[in-house]
Amino acid sequence: MTRTIGYIVGSISSTSINRTLSRVLVRLAPQDVEMVEIPIAQLPFYSPDYEADYPPVGLDLKAAIAAVDGVIIVTPEYSRSIPGVLKNALDWAARPAGQGAFRRVPVATIGTSRGGIGTAAGQQHLKAVMLTMGAIVMAQPEGYIQTLPGLFTDEGEVTNEGTATFLEGWLRAFVEHVDMVRPAHD
Ligand SMILES: Cc1cc2nc3c(=O)[nH]c(=O)nc-3n(C[C@H](O)[C@H](O)[C@H](O)COP(=O)(O)O)c2cc1C
Repeated sequence: MTRTIGYIVGSISSTSINRTLSRVLVRLAPQDVEMVEIPIAQLPFYSPDYEADYPPVGLDLKAAIAAVDGVIIVTPEYSRSIPGVLKNALDWAARPAGQGAFRRVPVATIGTSRGGIGTAAGQQHLKAVMLTMGAIVMAQPEGYIQTLPGLFTDEGEVTNEGTATFLEGWLRAFVEHVDMVRPAHD
């Protein structure tokens, strides 16, 4: 049985190491998992003014979240929190009130930075935001990846066997989390 996992990259940098990490995850995903990107770069700044007539760009984002079995958020840490571009997308997904797209959706967070804590502080904020939006957030294993020089190739290959093994296990744990939250899959 195939599960479809969406992933959001919280960086729009053309040289994003988190986009590279997302490529790594796509490569390492189990064979029965289809990974599809949920893009966010096209979203304008969210405003409540949109709520009277939610525009297609917002509806498309919500439909993309509704179409997958779970969502992985791969993001940098900015100032010990999350990038504004990611928070903007999450706000689009959360509205209008009572119609949030993340309610009861299995979610996992992961990220990489060159710093030693590997986005841990940013992910604490992100997990709090996702819980507020009603997502069922995977608690363990945590995904704090330090980007050491040469760890990943641009094509998304991992040069360190221990890191590859960890990421494969992390992905398997998320698939189990998805199946636990949505047992209809079994
Ligand atoms: C505005 C800003 C704030 C940042 N704050 C942090 C931070 O709090 N912790 C951290 O580890 N790196 C921080 N960085 C460095 C990022 O980890 C680094 O730019 C990384 O490459 C961003 O991920 P990306 O390449 O996927 O865009 C910050 C970078 C920017 C531009």
